[in-house]
Parts: sequence; C-alpha cells; structure tokens
Amino acid sequence: MTLRDHESERADNKHFEFTQVYGPGTPQEDVFHDTEPLMTSVLDGFNVCIFAYGQSGTGKTFTMEGTDEKPGLVPRAMGRVFEVVADRQSNYQHECFLSMIEIYNENIRDLLAPKDADTSKKKYDIMRDAMVGMYVKDLTSEPVHTASHCKALIRQGNTTRSTAATGLNDQSSRSHCLVTLTVRTTDLNTGDHYVGKLSLVDLAGSERLAKSQTTGQALKETQAINKSLSALGTVIAALATQEKHVPYRDSKLTYLLSDSLGGNSKTLMFVNCGPSQFNFAETLNSLNFASRAKAVSLGKATKNREDSKPGGGGGGGGGGGGGGGASGKASTTMAAAGQLGGGGSGGGSGSSPGPKKKR
Ligand SMILES: Nc1ncnc2c1ncn2[C@@H]1O[C@H](COP(=O)(O)OP(=O)(O)OP(=O)(O)O)[C@@H](O)[C@H]1O
Ligand SMILES: [Mg+2]
Repeated sequence: MTLRDHESERADNKHFEFTQVYGPGTPQEDVFHDTEPLMTSVLDGFNVCIFAYGQSGTGKTFTMEGTDEKPGLVPRAMGRVFEVVADRQSNYQHECFLSMIEIYNENIRDLLAPKDADTSKKKYDIMRDAMVGMYVKDLTSEPVHTASHCKALIRQGNTTRSTAATGLNDQSSRSHCLVTLTVRTTDLNTGDHYVGKLSLVDLAGSERLAKSQTTGQALKETQAINKSLSALGTVIAALATQEKHVPYRDSKLTYLLSDSLGGNSKTLMFVNCGPSQFNFAETLNSLNFASRAKAVSLGKATKNREDSKPGGGGGGGGGGGGGGGASGKASTTMAAAGQLGGGGSGGGSGSSPGPKKKR
C-alpha cells in the first residue's frame, strides 16, 4: 500500500507491503475468511493470537467485535469454532472454556466475574504454564458449549469494559481487551489430549495526547495506554532485530502476550489506519509498526500435546523476560485448568497433576 502526505512539498510516496490490505468498505466476512483456518488450529492444540492495533477511532473494536448488523471477528470466530466442534464430534471430544479480561491502567480486570463478587481491588497475577503459555491466575473461566453462549458472555463482558468519549472516538476503548477461548481436545481414536488457546485482543487506541484531548482521569488512562503500547513497540522492535533481551516484563500486556509475540503460537496482527490527511502522522507510525511486526519471525508453531512421556520442551519459547522455559512438566493451571480435570491453582510451571509435554 502507498501512503502520501498531501501537505508536504516533497510529497514522496511511502510504500509498504503486507500480507493483505483491506479497504474501509471490506465486508466483515471477507476479513474473517482469511482468519478462518486458524480456528481449526485451536482445536488441533495450537495457540492462536489475533490482535488489532492502531490509532483511536480507526476501527479496532469494529474489526474485533463489530456491531449487531455487522458482527466482527470475535463472534464469527466463536461461530466457526463450534461449527468445527460439531463437524468433528465422531472423532474428537472438545471441552471449551471462555475468559475475558481488560487491562486498564496496568491493572487486570476480570470481565466475566460474577456480578456480586467484588473484584475491584483484586490483583490478578500473570503466570506461565509450560504447556499453554501465559495465563491469568484465578480468572473466571466459563465452560461453554455453543457460540451463542460465548457471544452472550462476551456481550456481558463488554458492558463492563471501560470506554469513554475522547476527541477521536465517542466510544473509545480505554483498555486492552482479551477474549480467550481455551479448548481441550481428546482424539477419540488415539486417546491423545491437546490444549489450544485462542486469544483475541482488541487494543486500546494509540494516539497522541494532544489529539485525544483528554484531561484528568482520562489523561491518566491515555498515558497508561501509551506506556503499554510503547512497551509493545519496543518488544516488537527487539524481536524484529533478534535482540537477546526482549523486555516483555515492561507491561502487563507484553508479558501476557509474550508467548504469542515471540513464542510458538500462530499470531496475526491487524493494523487499523484512518485514511485521511489529518491522520497522516499516526498512520505512518502505525504502518511502520506493522512493518516491524511483519519482520518478526515466530518459532515454528507446535501443538500443545498432553501425553504420558515426561521431558521434551521444544518450540520457540517466549525467550527474554518470558521466564521459566519449558520444563516438560506442564501444570494445567491456566485459567481453565481447574476444570480441565484436576489442575490446581498453583502457579508457574511445574506443579503438574501429571506429566505432559510440549512438542
Ligand atoms: N469499516 C468500518 N465500517 C463501518 N463503520 C466503521 C468501520 N470502522 C469503524 N467504524 C465505526 O467507526 C467508529 C470508531 O471505530 P472503533 O470504535 O472500532 O475504533 P477503535 O479503533 O476501537 O477506537 P479506540 O482506540 O478509541 O477504541 C465506530 O462507530 C465504528 O462502528
Ligand atoms: Mg476500541
């Protein structure tokens, strides 16, 4: 795609190349179509992460959530996952769990927490499981059997999400939102178990403070958003240039996504841009960001397979500050784990109810 600054005398065009470019009128189904094979990957035991990055007001929430008339990627993904579950039921059994968080001012909030539970002061820890990667401890994790149940839960979670009117968007997301579907698959023919994780991330908008025209609490939000997005930028730059140290721990967002950004998951990033002159500087920033992200080479995606042989490891691994390293003993203590047959609520890697390996 080509970007031109119409106010610059030199007016030299800037060219960028991406896997796919979607115009403003692209139907939601076309965008989803390109991501569809990833849903089957989740059921096969891969970690998949899809996220939307970009300036405020350019359509990240529209891309991920969409509207009732034009549903976006998240509801469509849920629909597709359960279609595949139904298609494969004679050979596979799938157990699915849904969780949803927002990261607001560097605090994690459980968007599916029961209404009567006061979680406003609760501090949620980010942990690492050798098999499924990063997860948030003690998070609500709802067993789900249908796409409509998922959609109802996500709608409920969205009502709790922090939004506010800013200079750029009447309904601006003031937090990063992560919907996670964890799926445990049993191959009925071989008895093998796999655990896949689908993370769908709607980031808060990248924006200049002046443009967002925020003050007081909203200004604090904008600063927190900018800090975590700049941490994301630093991590991606470090990965793109293959630096030894990747500062994942600089923000909750990058730490939680460390297994998706530099690990062995299948990761897809949408970068939203506003195609008007007014947005030129932000669009250039976003496209440079997208080019760096495209330059990141992830490790080969590997299935999260549970089996009876200890040891193993393998795959790309989070590297840098991701911590741990695959020990070969995976505790099933990710968000859904309590319900995945006996995982405790202990942390990190190692407190396994039974040996599993990643390959
Ligand atoms: N391709 C599109 N077609 C129709 N409407 C769109 C499209 N993209 C965005 N919109 C509309 O533009 C408005 C702003 O979009 P949205 O809220 O998705 O932006 P955002 O990137 O999530 O912004 P923020 O970072 O502030 O949360 C919304 O009303 C949305 O429905
Ligand atoms: Mg938004």
